[in-house]
Amino acid sequence: MEKTVDRVVEGNPREEDLPLDGTLRPRRLDEYIGQEKVKENLKVFIEAARLRSQPLDHVLFHGHPGLGKTSLASVISNELQGNLRTTSGPVIERAGDLAAILTNLTAGDVLFIDEIHRLNHVIEEILYPAMEDFQLDIIIGQGPSARTIKLDLPPFTLIGATTRAGLLSPPLRDRFGVTLRLEFYKVPELKEILLRSAQILHIAMDDGGALEIAQRSRGTPRIANRLLKRVRDYAEVRADGKITRPVADLALKMLDVDAKGFDRMDRKILATIIEKYDGGPVGIETLSAAVSEEKDTLEDVYEPYLIQEGYLSKTPRGRLATRLAYEHLGVARPFRGQMRMF
Ligand SMILES: Nc1ncnc2c1ncn2[C@@H]1O[C@H](COP(=O)(O)OP(=O)(O)O)[C@@H](O)[C@H]1O
Ligand SMILES: [Mg+2]
Repeated sequence: MEKTVDRVVEGNPREEDLPLDGTLRPRRLDEYIGQEKVKENLKVFIEAARLRSQPLDHVLFHGHPGLGKTSLASVISNELQGNLRTTSGPVIERAGDLAAILTNLTAGDVLFIDEIHRLNHVIEEILYPAMEDFQLDIIIGQGPSARTIKLDLPPFTLIGATTRAGLLSPPLRDRFGVTLRLEFYKVPELKEILLRSAQILHIAMDDGGALEIAQRSRGTPRIANRLLKRVRDYAEVRADGKITRPVADLALKMLDVDAKGFDRMDRKILATIIEKYDGGPVGIETLSAAVSEEKDTLEDVYEPYLIQEGYLSKTPRGRLATRLAYEHLGVARPFRGQMRMF
């Protein structure tokens, strides 16, 4: 299962995000900022489906938590003017649960299954004919008298979301017509998302304030929006309510989110590799013991962003702290070249 930890720079939703999630979620493709490649692809597929008057091909989104998978599912259903039905892999426990959802769909609906890699295999097999032929095979009775009846389902579009594409079974993956990968967002895109959110929430914020928060949001809109709310609270209490660069900087320092969006644990990981293991390589088990954090949590929660940003590198011999890590922590990097002696 996906590991989560409780921290302000967490990509997974936290309790505090829920009240505003609905308000901030983009409704149309035009409002959805960034992910240009994904949007371009979707526009073509949506238009083609419209022209053919057929449902959109089943779509699979994969990407780290908080990058906008659920938002895209609702954007697509809005663009198609269909209803959105939402469920998730771990929630569908029995075959009957899925059968009930499928038989309640109407033509043109979008069925969104979040965390689709966590569907159990028996249930997955019910999805195959539903995805391929819009058919549901129901087994009636037991033992020798059992028989299968086929029910026709209305044409619908399945949208699956997963943080771990590698955990999806190949037969399920193959039944999606389109697979799109969401990337971490660039700073200017996060800035735009923040300015949009501030406008919706009537928060006063200037460009400098937005940029400062964007730089510390780890490429993730959910984190950006969460930091915005935290900084707003600070601005109301300690400043005149307006978010400027210095206000954002002070608020984020107080939250222990540094200039790169790293928190205490991120810095501890880098510092441990540098100070205890000469910059590495150090094996993940050893590192896990040294920082007192589970190996899976290190790999799922902490490493992806450090690797993506080039602070940590993963080698066959273990983890290495890069030049950027030394620079970020302000530690001089030892000379690693070999001197040839004559
Ligand atoms: N491209 C985007 N443009 C604007 N806001 C976004 C975008 N992607 C995500 N968000 C914001 O981030 C929050 C988290 O996105 P969500 O779709 O729930 O992510 P995921 O399902 O991938 O975890 C949403 O509530 C929305 O406000
Ligand atoms: Mg989601």
